[in-house]
Parts: sequence; C-alpha cells; structure tokens
Amino acid sequence: MMTMRDFVRATPFFVIAHRGASGHAPENTLAALRLAVASGARMIELDVQFTSDRKQIVFHDHVLGRTTNGHGQVKNTTFETIRSLDAGAWFDPSFAGERVPSLEEALALLRDHVYLNIELKPITDRQTAREDIADLVATIKRFDYEQYMVFSSFDHDALRLVKDIDPLLHTVALNVPHDNRPPSEVVFSCGADGFGCSIHELTRARMADANAHLIPVGVYTVNTIEDLRTVITLGARAVVSNYPDVIMEAYERMRSA
Ligand code: G3P
Ligand code: MG
Repeated sequence: MMTMRDFVRATPFFVIAHRGASGHAPENTLAALRLAVASGARMIELDVQFTSDRKQIVFHDHVLGRTTNGHGQVKNTTFETIRSLDAGAWFDPSFAGERVPSLEEALALLRDHVYLNIELKPITDRQTAREDIADLVATIKRFDYEQYMVFSSFDHDALRLVKDIDPLLHTVALNVPHDNRPPSEVVFSCGADGFGCSIHELTRARMADANAHLIPVGVYTVNTIEDLRTVITLGARAVVSNYPDVIMEAYERMRSA
C-alpha cells in the first residue's frame, strides 16, 4: 500500500466508509468494518473514545444507550463492562453478539487493507488529554499505521496535541457547527492538513478558499447520488458515506458517462 500522503495526491476523489459500512451493519463494529473493506472502500472512518480505565474503544456516542444494551457515559464505564454489552442487536437481530471493538482489534483487522480516518471524539477530560492522545499515537505506531491514517476531530485542541506529539502525523479539522471562518483559517489555526465539513456547510465560498490554499476538503455524510453530484460539482476531494458501495458505484458511473 502506498502511503496515505501519496494516495491522496494520486487520487482525485475517494469515498470513506462512515463508521464502517454503517448503512449495512451496526456502526463502528467489526462487522461494519469488514463490510466496508469488502465493498472496496479505500478509507474507513471510525470514532475513538476512552473508557473510564483509559482503554481506547471504537464508539461514536458519549452515552451507551443508543447503540448497545447498556447505559451511562462511556467515560464513566470500564472497558470490561463495555465489552460485555451487545452492540449489534439494536441494528438488526442478525447482528446480535457484536461487541464494541477495542481500537487494537480494529487496527489488526484493517492494517494492510485500508487507509484510516480516526475521528477523535472531543476530549472531555483536559487533564488527561495529552496522555490519552500520546497513548493513542503509541497504539497507532505499534501497528505501523502512522503513514496510512489521519486523525480528524471537531476538537481542534486535540489535533494541536497530535501535531505537538508528532508533526508528521496527518490531521483534518472538522468544521465546528456555526463556525463561519474560511477553511484556511480553521486549518492554519490548528496546523491541520485538511478540512472536513457537512454537506450543509459546503459552499462555493468555502471551496474557493480551500482551493486557493491547496487544502483538501472532505464532506460528510453523503448517502445519495444527488448529494454526490453537488459535492463533485463543487470540487471536494472525498466524501464520507454510510453506503460506500452505492456511492462508489455512482461515482464510477458518473465518471464513465
Ligand atoms: O467524518 C465526519 C463525521 O464522522 C463527523 O460526525 O458525528 O458522524 O462522527 P460524526
Ligand atoms: Mg465520526
């Protein structure tokens, strides 16, 4: 696999599987990650958080209730308790028994197959933020993933910490809702390499600023062909989708039309 930097340079447009293939399988589970790889997606986005005993898990919400049979906050719950929960049945009974993956499990599954977009959920405990992020970077390095992944976050302080720990790591600043600064300002203020925003935030003015500063832009969450068309017309470089198979196929059709 070429490094992610080379891949982004060489690839005019690509589709990122959002929380794995989360339209087809329970988000952020190994089942969703496997399906995303099988769909041919070149990059997968997944969310990372820390448990009360500081283990790194792949999980989106701050609370357990929506996507597991548990309850309470992730940051107040131990890894062992979270591992005992069912993270699949809520999506469909056929996925009962899926667990919340540790980041290590996900990395072991994905290494050598796909590029990774690890979304660092906003760090709630500022006192342990530096240590938590240093641990996270150490995990990435243990799997030799550092040249094949990017950290994205709405928490731009967390991205600054990533760059402070290792300036060679790649970061993408996600636009904080209602932040109307141009992408270049957002990106330069935290030293990021790219900019991400929602489809609703994608405007001609934002794209013009990003292009003028050679900043690659990714857009979430693009699940329809109509939205894909909008994004391509405006010139973004990547989309995050719950249905990577559908959106990749639609892109190929548009390209060959
Ligand atoms: O990649 C961007 C997207 O994942 C950010 O929002 O809430 O789906 O993590 P969210
Ligand atoms: Mg995310």
